[in-house]
Amino acid sequence: MAAPMWWLPPLLRCRPRFPAARGPGHGQARRISTEVVVQGQSQATGGEEADSEVSARIKTFTEVQAEGLEQAQKTVLISYPTGISEKSILQYLSHHGRINNYFFYKGHGHHAMVEFSEKESIGSLQDVAQIAGSSVPGIPFKSRLFTLTPRQSLGQALDETSVPNYQHPTIPMEDLVQKLCCADSISSQLYCLVNEYQLTEESMKLRFLACSLIQDIARAYFPECVVKPFGSSVSTFGKLGCDLDMFLDFDEIGKSPTPKKTDPFHVEYQIKRMPSERAATQKILSVIGDCIANFSPGCTHIQKILDARCPLMRFFHQPTGFQCDLTANNRVALRSSELLYIYGNLDSRVRALVFGIRCWARTHGITSGTSGPWITNFSLTMMVLFFLQKRKPPILPTLADLKNLADAEDKHVIGGHDCTFVSNLNKINQTENTETLDVLLNEFFEYFGNFDFSSKSINIREGKEHNKPEPSPLYIQNPFEQALNISANVNQNQLDRFVVLARECAWILQQVNQDHGQEGGKQPWGLAAILVPRVISSKKKKAKSMLASARLKALLDSLRADIANKKGERAFSSWSLK
Ligand code: GTP
Ligand code: MG
Repeated sequence: MAAPMWWLPPLLRCRPRFPAARGPGHGQARRISTEVVVQGQSQATGGEEADSEVSARIKTFTEVQAEGLEQAQKTVLISYPTGISEKSILQYLSHHGRINNYFFYKGHGHHAMVEFSEKESIGSLQDVAQIAGSSVPGIPFKSRLFTLTPRQSLGQALDETSVPNYQHPTIPMEDLVQKLCCADSISSQLYCLVNEYQLTEESMKLRFLACSLIQDIARAYFPECVVKPFGSSVSTFGKLGCDLDMFLDFDEIGKSPTPKKTDPFHVEYQIKRMPSERAATQKILSVIGDCIANFSPGCTHIQKILDARCPLMRFFHQPTGFQCDLTANNRVALRSSELLYIYGNLDSRVRALVFGIRCWARTHGITSGTSGPWITNFSLTMMVLFFLQKRKPPILPTLADLKNLADAEDKHVIGGHDCTFVSNLNKINQTENTETLDVLLNEFFEYFGNFDFSSKSINIREGKEHNKPEPSPLYIQNPFEQALNISANVNQNQLDRFVVLARECAWILQQVNQDHGQEGGKQPWGLAAILVPRVISSKKKKAKSMLASARLKALLDSLRADIANKKGERAFSSWSLK
């Protein structure tokens, strides 16, 4: 059955972003036709037509968020034992309401993500669900995580091995490198990397669902709060397996109704006062964190990291397999993610280059999964965006350009910081720059291999380098909180490693034309070559020996020239003496 249009997630429903299509079956959810099991389900063609206007343009970040969260609220996560027929699960669940969407996956056990058309269907399922009677007492929290156990054998289960796992890229690095070697250009290699590593539609749905499940907990205290994904999960730069950044949004709660002038009294909630906004955030996160730890099934390894600049609760969400960071009062980060979403959707080369550079950096330990004095993915992404702003003609507009295109509803001032930029992508003109990714990847390394980090800062608001206001080794101005450096954590040693590797990679990529195809495509070349540390070190040796022989040749040439000159002088002198 061809996937109906309404199935596709927001990001993929938009205009096609990549020249290379995902290979058949790869990373796809294991889906079973619901035509038989879902009684009376039409294929929602009406919805497709209604959506055609939205499909024709790229959705705004807010639309993506709203749609993802709305779908997630109609979704349940079912755990089931191996050997159970998936068709029978769907058949059973369809008695509780029309199923809009579903997929099966493996992670910590076997799971089905099932999205109903109506929220009421969840209530219907909850009505029949038991609080498991077991010898071990439990917290009677009625969540949307269920376990289905068959009372009898319910038909043939499908092949176990075909149930996918959405937590991590399915292709090991070595296989990826081999695949990249078969591509015919660096550009194709980069698009291939994106297609292998980007978040699948299923992973996106699971991310929204995890947020929605945490929102259920938080709403016990704050009924109007919303838990939204931000960071790479929604910025278009997310890689399979990346963490899930969650934002506990109290915006709706904070909105005060306009008081009627005719009212004789001013009515105000009595609230607990805290010494600072930060203290309030810490308290809320701490309490919600305790609830998550104590009541939310499947949340483990809870860590309260409340003293960080941005206080957060870290935990592992076992059913979806995501490492989650829950923050609150962090609207600037949400806005940063929206900005990245805009840049990532403007030109297909942006995502491809960011993916390539992030992957390269991770392979060589330039970035890391833990915090420390290294460059973060966020900083690295800013460097790529800055580089693309500096091309001639620019591939990306500056943040100031995006602000100029903003209209009244795009105006955002957060904590006194101007976070205004256009949200409608269709208002932004396409670039006239036609440089290939082959050129851009090489030039990126060339550019940052020779960037004057010692005195210059990077600023995507203006698309210009500035003199550094303070001596941090790497200074990337926070685009919104402009007095801050987003890479203040990076030490000189880590920056030097980045620069040295960038220079080496520039050199390796320049060899592409000489090397590619020489060894029947067996040797890693182009992107593949720079992703393999041992190739870098062997190429580095080759580069060093070539540099050494070039230097020796230059020395010999200059000696020969010197001798010749001297001979000439002598000849001249002797001639003149004659
Ligand atoms: P990965 O998780 O590494 O895939 O990338 P990410 O972009 O999600 O980065 P991370 O999880 O570290 O941070 C999540 C989001 O927080 C980023 O996308 C930014 O919006 C924001 N953020 C991260 N670091 C900084 C920082 O130093 N300053 C500011 N202002 N925002 C940051
Ligand atoms: Mg993240």
